[in-house]
Amino acid sequence: MKILMVCLGNICRSPLAEGILKKKIRENHFDWEVDSAGTESYHTGETPHPLSQKTALQHGVDISLHRARRFTKSDLEKFDKIYAMAKDAYKEMESIAGKNTYMKKVDLLMNEVSPGKDLSVPDPWYGGREEFQQAYKLIDAACDQIIFKYGSKNTFRT
Ligand code: 4NP
Repeated sequence: MKILMVCLGNICRSPLAEGILKKKIRENHFDWEVDSAGTESYHTGETPHPLSQKTALQHGVDISLHRARRFTKSDLEKFDKIYAMAKDAYKEMESIAGKNTYMKKVDLLMNEVSPGKDLSVPDPWYGGREEFQQAYKLIDAACDQIIFKYGSKNTFRT
């Protein structure tokens, strides 16, 4: 099982999602791969936002080694499941995917918590500690659901 988390810059939300899901995967002894990317290139090569790093560390998740990278069309082939943090990232992937059927793999992350509601994880980029905490909370709940949903099939345990 290969999962990709996608936001705009790959410095605030999707590195958090990658770090959170990786921690849960380790705790559950699953053999899954997780990565993250951004649909825009403004921050390529940068470390996660300091408040993303700080918020993650408060929960025992170290994302300091992550470096931002841009989402590419080949990600649509490589990953089994791709989660967009928000509608803007979803739409951008849709335009990159073109007419192929890979979009079947793509969903909004929050649909794991509230199916069919098409909610976004609000962008914390212009916010402060509160906004990053809120993003963490939403992403954490969605990752719990992913572990429950796919992990209960027992298909990918080591
Ligand atoms: P992210 O947040 O998509 O969660 O990484 C953002 C980071 C940077 C910008 C926007 C959103 N930006 O406009 O530079």
